[in-house]
Amino acid sequence: MLSIALPKGRLGDKVYNMMTAAGYECPDYADNDRKLIVESPDAGMRYLLVKPSDVAVYVEHAAADIGIVGKDILMENEPDIYELLDLGIGKCRMCVAGPVGFEYDQEKTLRVATKYVNVAKKHFMEENRDIEIIKLNGSIELGPILGLTDVIVDIVETGTTIKENDLEIVEAFKDISARLIANKASFKFKNKEITQMTEKLREIVRGDNA
Ligand code: PRP
Repeated sequence: MLSIALPKGRLGDKVYNMMTAAGYECPDYADNDRKLIVESPDAGMRYLLVKPSDVAVYVEHAAADIGIVGKDILMENEPDIYELLDLGIGKCRMCVAGPVGFEYDQEKTLRVATKYVNVAKKHFMEENRDIEIIKLNGSIELGPILGLTDVIVDIVETGTTIKENDLEIVEAFKDISARLIANKASFKFKNKEITQMTEKLREIVRGDNA
């Protein structure tokens, strides 16, 4: 049996639809309300429903063989896993956003609110900017509104959240999407099953993009 860590919520539902199309249906998934593990012995699958930011933790530590996770989280945490496939869903962009009309001032330390501390550090280091990071865990957009920071680094999907909060994109610096990942040992010992699933999903991704 293969165990797969799926992100709970919107992305998880999209991924589950792809899994169903690939032949890995699990009737209990659709009926499920609160259970964190659902199984389909017929499809040889065990689905673990976890917080999106924890998917790679389960996979890295072999609590799940494979998982689906946003590239944003892989960039931030750099887990020791194999990245097998870009699923082409959950698309968004990693951005710097600031108040409308914001311009960088090289003379000043840039204050940045983000939950992507490592991503932000790396990005501004490449731009040679002097920064101070304030880590927030959500509602990042409040940083500039309250004068806590100059800008934010966050993912932008439709752009609605920043717009509603009078912010705009200063720079979009990385395209993000959901990735299929595998535990390194599982990839070795369950190679046939994992490769088969990867190929089936690849066909579906190709079909979606055709
Ligand atoms: C993300 C992100 C933004 C929002 C962007 O938050 O942090 O707040 O989505 O989406 P939009 O451009 O379509 O408005 P998410 O919904 O993942 O919740 P979180 O704040 O709990 O991370």
